[in-house]
Amino acid sequence: MNTNANKPASARGELDRRDFLKLGAWALAGAGSATGCASTPRSTRHRAGNRAFPRGFYWGTATSAYQIEGAWNEDGKGPSIWDTYAHTPGNIRNNDTGDVANDHYHRYKEDVALMKCIGANAYRFSISWPRIFPEGTGTPNAKGLDFYNRLVDELKAAGIEPFATLYHWDLPQALQDRYGGWQSRDTARALGDYAGYVAEKLSDRVRHFFTINEFKQVTETAYRGVELHVQGKTVRLMSAPGILLEDGPLNQVRHNALLGHGLAMQAIRARARAGTKAGPAENMPHAIPIIDSPEHVRAAMAATRDLNHYFLGPMLEGRYDDAYLKKAGRNAPKFTDDEMRIISSPADFVGINVYIPTLAVMASDKSPGYEEVPFSVSHPKMFSDWHRLIPESQYWSPRLLHGIWNPAEIYITENGCAATDEVAKDGNVYDYDRVMYLRNGMMWQQRAIAEGVPLKGNFYWSTMDNFEWINGYGDRFGLVHVDFKTQKRTPKLSARWYREAARRNAIA
Ligand code: NOJ
Repeated sequence: MNTNANKPASARGELDRRDFLKLGAWALAGAGSATGCASTPRSTRHRAGNRAFPRGFYWGTATSAYQIEGAWNEDGKGPSIWDTYAHTPGNIRNNDTGDVANDHYHRYKEDVALMKCIGANAYRFSISWPRIFPEGTGTPNAKGLDFYNRLVDELKAAGIEPFATLYHWDLPQALQDRYGGWQSRDTARALGDYAGYVAEKLSDRVRHFFTINEFKQVTETAYRGVELHVQGKTVRLMSAPGILLEDGPLNQVRHNALLGHGLAMQAIRARARAGTKAGPAENMPHAIPIIDSPEHVRAAMAATRDLNHYFLGPMLEGRYDDAYLKKAGRNAPKFTDDEMRIISSPADFVGINVYIPTLAVMASDKSPGYEEVPFSVSHPKMFSDWHRLIPESQYWSPRLLHGIWNPAEIYITENGCAATDEVAKDGNVYDYDRVMYLRNGMMWQQRAIAEGVPLKGNFYWSTMDNFEWINGYGDRFGLVHVDFKTQKRTPKLSARWYREAARRNAIA
């Protein structure tokens, strides 16, 4: 018999109604102003029980430079391929651009205060390469680096651990013009030099670096475009520079991006402070087993390994998959043994951005040992056209990564969803759909950890609404609502949830 059940909630260490109203006041009245959030009671104890995360788990949020910084041509910054792409009419919904975005370049202090308010103890941001090297290589721009010094100092002072991504899609336009971007190994070499410079300058305070964010977007989506089919609709995704390549040159672009990752890893090792950790942040294609039983899990594992023959496979195994090379034939990338050694420089961790699985599978007697199960048209989705709702991805993705390649540490470098996020008459944003999404996803993460997967942190995408690439400002992913006309920030209901969960270090 549970004798505790007869005690009042406060005596059981749970939230009682008064506490709840006090906590609610933060979201509902002040809509989470930086001062309002400081009044959240800290004394309430909770029995996290089996909903707890391990001590030291990072409750992070994430953004990227082009999506939030604005100040696109200030303080000596050079143009990036995303500046060029967004300035070309017709490429982005409503012809939105990142020229101003969240004006984070000027408002970073307010934004760090908001992160503290959200209860985050880690923040993943990206560094704008053309802010540091306006020409892609050569003379660094001191004012560009100064911005990140100020940001990192602000984060440290707020008790938020900085995690920096070196390349989140905003290639210096100069490298596109000079080398054709990732079509040339020179761009890979330039990434190495830039990574070494930044690591040397920031690694006294930044202890974790991600090299490249989402290899597929940097290569296939940027140099071909991809189609996704969800609920009977076909969605075409494109990324800057928006070039259309044949299979052979595209495979070479993929290889060059891998080489860029490897050279960046080596440069970080050579120039950063001892103990600095580095690895990729990949949107790892993965397969979900429909049934959780050994033969279907084996099938999902085999499918996931096959799906990663372009990037994680070579990175973590030091070789391209034979079947891939055979199938590619004369379109296979050109590479040397030495390059494969560079590409597979040991990573301290693997970051994964987890949104949707590529496939659902069942075991099969026929080769390759799995068969694809189609998604039905009625499969539920979140706001974005492409976003099928499959929370268990947040279990399977790290679990399969662990099972196949066993990296020492895993981070979920992104997971999140867009929602309608209308501002209610009382000024608040009631995004219960996002709370549901978060809670369910994180319950699956917790299961992975409970089963021994070394998942060290979660970075919700995104800290605040921002420029969602070709969808402009239409898809809002933030825990904080941003009015892009006034730059007013309003924490949403989901920010309240995240804060409470981070505070308990448990599912709330
Ligand atoms: C992954 C990308 O890294 C990020 O930039 C993007 O905004 C989110 N997915 C949401 O689409």
